[in-house]
Amino acid sequence: MKLLVCGGAGFIGSNFIHYILKKYPDYSVVNYDKLTYAGNLENVVDVAKDPRYAFVEGDITDLDHLDEVMKKHGITHVINFAAETHVDRSIHGGAKEFVLTNTLGVQMILDAVRLNKIVKFVNVSTDEVYGALALEDDRKFTESTPILPNMPYAAAKAGGDMMCNAYFVTHKVPVVVTHCSNNYGPYQFPEKLIPFFVFKLLKGEKVPVYGDGLNVRDWIHVTDHASALDLLLHEGVAGEIYNIGADNERSNMDITKLILKIIGLGDDRIEYVTDRPGHDRRYAVDATKIMKLGWKPMYPREKFEDGLRETVKWYKENTSWVENIWNKKKKEMNSFQTKLSRSGKRMESAT
Ligand SMILES: NC(=O)c1ccc[n+]([C@@H]2O[C@H](COP(=O)([O-])OP(=O)(O)OC[C@H]3O[C@@H](n4cnc5c(N)ncnc54)[C@H](O)[C@@H]3O)[C@@H](O)[C@H]2O)c1
Repeated sequence: MKLLVCGGAGFIGSNFIHYILKKYPDYSVVNYDKLTYAGNLENVVDVAKDPRYAFVEGDITDLDHLDEVMKKHGITHVINFAAETHVDRSIHGGAKEFVLTNTLGVQMILDAVRLNKIVKFVNVSTDEVYGALALEDDRKFTESTPILPNMPYAAAKAGGDMMCNAYFVTHKVPVVVTHCSNNYGPYQFPEKLIPFFVFKLLKGEKVPVYGDGLNVRDWIHVTDHASALDLLLHEGVAGEIYNIGADNERSNMDITKLILKIIGLGDDRIEYVTDRPGHDRRYAVDATKIMKLGWKPMYPREKFEDGLRETVKWYKENTSWVENIWNKKKKEMNSFQTKLSRSGKRMESAT
C-alpha cells in the first residue's frame, strides 16, 4: 500500500502514521499537510528519516497539487484527517476556513481520487455531524441517525460527508466515511479538553469547566481509532459509513475529576466559566457495525482510567514537546484573541 495521509501532522493523523509504519514494514506513507497552527512536524519527527515516509506541505483545496503528489508517489490508498477542528474557533472566529477545508477540501480529494483510480479513500469524519442527544435519552448515534449538525464545524464536516456520498453514487468513487467520537492520547494540541486541562494543572493553574460540567462525550483512545481506520482501509465497504467509539460516555466533570485524581490535586483547581453557545449536551456512538467486522478497542470503558493515566504520563515525560506546543499555543491564542477583540469578542476557554 502506498498511502497518502492528508493532515498527518495533526493529533490523530500523526498517531495513525506511527501505527501504520510500525505494523506494516512494506507500506509507505506520504504525509500531506498544510501545517496550520494545529499541524506540528514534531509529532512525526521520529519517522522523518524513515525511507518509507515522506512529507509534502500542501493544501487539500489545491486539486492540481494533490493530483501531482498522487502521481509522483504512485499512491494507491488515501485517508483524510485534514480539517479545521476546533469548535470554539468555528463559533467565535468565523466559519469560512472550516467550510473551505472540511467541505471543499474533501471534494478536491474526491476529484483527485477519481483522477488517479485510487483503490480506497477513507474520509475521517466525526460523530458531531449527528447533532446532540439529551442526557436522559438512552439512545446512541447509529449510522442511520439523520445528519443534523448544530455547530459550524460539524456542519462543514457534514458537507464533506455528503460530497463523499454523492461521489460514490454518481462516480462510483470507492470512499468510506467514518464517524468517530472524542479522542484522547499523545500529541493532541492543547486547545482540546484533556491536554488543555493536564497542561494547565501541571503549570499550577486552575481549569475552566464550561457551564455545569454535565455535558457528556464518548471517549476513545487515539490508538483504538487508528486500529479501526486500519481495518476500514483494508475491509471497509465502499459507499458505507462506519461509527467508531469505545462505549465510554463521561461527563466533562467526570473527566476533570479523574485528571485531578491522576495528577494528585483537589477540586479547588476547578473554576466554572460561561457555557459555549449551542453546547451539545451529549454524544454517544453505537459502534456495532464496525465491531461486526472484527474490531475491538484496547481501551474499552473499564480500561479508560489506564488510558488516561498513560496519556498524562506521556505528557509529563515529553516535556520539550509540551513546552514547545504550549508556547506555540500561547502565541496562537494571543493572535486569535486580538483578532476577536477587534470585533468586541473573546473566547473564554477551550475544549
Ligand atoms: N480530535 C477528535 O476528538 C476527533 C474526533 C472525531 C473525529 N475527528 C476528526 O479527525 C480528523 C483529525 O482530527 P485532529 O484532532 O487530529 O485534528 P488536528 O486539528 O489536530 O489536525 C488537523 C491537521 O490538518 C491539517 N490541515 C488543516 N487544514 C488543512 C488543509 N486545508 N490542507 C491540508 N492540511 C490541513 C493541520 O495542519 C493539522 O495537521 C478531523 O477530520 C476531525 O474532524 C477528530
